[in-house]
Amino acid sequence: MEAKKMCIASDHAGWELKELIIGYLESMEIYPDDLGCYSKESVDYPEYGKKCGEAVASGKYAAGIVICGTGIGISMAANKVKGVRCALCTSTEMAEYAARHNNANILALGARTTPPEVALQILTTWMNTDFEGGRHKRRTDMLDAM
Ligand code: RB5
Repeated sequence: MEAKKMCIASDHAGWELKELIIGYLESMEIYPDDLGCYSKESVDYPEYGKKCGEAVASGKYAAGIVICGTGIGISMAANKVKGVRCALCTSTEMAEYAARHNNANILALGARTTPPEVALQILTTWMNTDFEGGRHKRRTDMLDAM
């Protein structure tokens, strides 16, 4: 992944994991913009998935991370935005293919379903895996045209 700015967003269920991930990225001198939410107070995941989706689709960010309880709702919201390829990953194998084949520009994680240490491994794999291009580019172009 190119070293351009990243953004991150979550709902209340993902807030704690979001804070952990921000600290983890900062320890690697990567400073993502935090698009909220900012506490454990209940909020609605569609708002934050949309926010991150629009931020990445605008071109301001190379990539984004979204987190909710399962990662399902917030990934659904992000994927409503044209140009977003948001992948909900629950294993490092999925993260690898999300980058290698799908060129996912947003990673979704489930804070209630994925242990934090696994979430960090998933994130690291996604960030460190390059898109293969070739036939996969034709397919991601098809997605982007939808
Ligand atoms: C919030 O309770 C929960 O529904 C949300 O975080 C997420 O898991 C939805 O997909």
